[in-house]
Amino acid sequence: MIKTIKGCKDIYGEDVEVFRRTEEVLRKTVHEYGFKEIIPPVIEYSDLFRRSVGEGTDIVEKEMYTFTDKGGRSITLRPEMTASVARAYVEHHFETLPSPIKLFYIGPCFRYEKPQKGRYREFYQFGVEVLGDESPLLDAEVISLAYVIAERLGLKKLKVRLNSIGCKNCRPQYKKALQEALKPHYDELCDDCKRRFYTNPLRILDCKKEKEELKKSLPKITDYLCDECKEHFEKVKSYLDMMGIPYELDNTLVRGLDYYTKTVFEVVSEHLGAQNALLGGGRYDYLIEELGGRHTPGLGFAIGMERLVEVLKAEKTVSKEEKIVYIAYREGLEKNAFSVASKLRNAGLTVLIDSKGGAIGKQMKRASKKNATYTVIIGEEEAEKGVVQLKDMKKKEQVEVSESNLVSTIGGKDA
Ligand code: HAM
Repeated sequence: MIKTIKGCKDIYGEDVEVFRRTEEVLRKTVHEYGFKEIIPPVIEYSDLFRRSVGEGTDIVEKEMYTFTDKGGRSITLRPEMTASVARAYVEHHFETLPSPIKLFYIGPCFRYEKPQKGRYREFYQFGVEVLGDESPLLDAEVISLAYVIAERLGLKKLKVRLNSIGCKNCRPQYKKALQEALKPHYDELCDDCKRRFYTNPLRILDCKKEKEELKKSLPKITDYLCDECKEHFEKVKSYLDMMGIPYELDNTLVRGLDYYTKTVFEVVSEHLGAQNALLGGGRYDYLIEELGGRHTPGLGFAIGMERLVEVLKAEKTVSKEEKIVYIAYREGLEKNAFSVASKLRNAGLTVLIDSKGGAIGKQMKRASKKNATYTVIIGEEEAEKGVVQLKDMKKKEQVEVSESNLVSTIGGKDA
């Protein structure tokens, strides 16, 4: 038997229902904030991710699905979508449009990671990006959007982790101080962190293998911020306070992608275990320049859809019941069944027409198995009078209703 590839999964049953309902809420919410959709390709030139996500990151070093196409080009299945949005900004001259540009996306991403709960090799991201404005007001607005999304979905037990990782001017001094402080502990570091010590020491703060004690003893980035970064961070925090968005300052939050500057944040959930980040994001003021564009600040975040579905199911917050109408009918009355079904479907209801026929009693049993909310029964006498029998399957009550009153009696999809 051929199975799914390791780390990939079919999304079906309750999961796909929760996925799509959640997607609807996400789309509606970002629309209210003025975001427009972009659908970038799933494959990009490998250089795009090397230059944006960064050579020294786990993603680029170990996790990319890269191949050479028939034309000899190095192609990568996208591990994330911010790089594609930034590429599109430069390629299509979005700088000529009134800024800030607000874009959102949803689609599959690929990372060759060790699969575990909440971590897959193919996963879906829903993300937003705001390009062309450096105002700290936007940092607060983007974080508040993440929070509002979580609230609308009814999520509980969430935390917003917030940090600033400075800019090109102040981060080098911090890196040096960090390396100095880490030097006496070099031998205790895990193999990955020994490498990170030289390439990207900030990532050591984020490593789950290193001792908390050691991490707590290290210098804090917020003590090394330049005046501009400090002022920006203060404003972000004060706007969040004004908006009433709760957050926790976390000096160890550094994120795993190289393009970030200043504000970084994550929303974490207790329900996710080790892979507890439901969404992550931050500001990236040099990314567009690094991809050949003009200086264009940007920021955004991405949600992992599978993680969101897991949390929603764990918290049982999305059990909105669907109304299903089953149609049972005597043989020869198919035309009536089709006509009733089409009226109900036009009203937005889910309608299942019995396809196996036979005694009405048997059809009713099949209706129960399909969890029908109502069964419409069409017999010869009813058909002649232009009525149907409507059975409420939970209450076990049956009434005669004229065909023309059927929709109003059942109520629409949301009634
Ligand atoms: P990221 O933190 O790498 O950031 O990914 C964002 C979210 O994608 C994570 O919080 C997680 O929910 C989900 N995710 C990541 N890897 C996996 C995986 N292997 N399996 C399941 N879910 C996963 C980014 O990708 C940035 N582009 C976010 C961003 C947008 N920053 C600014 N704008």
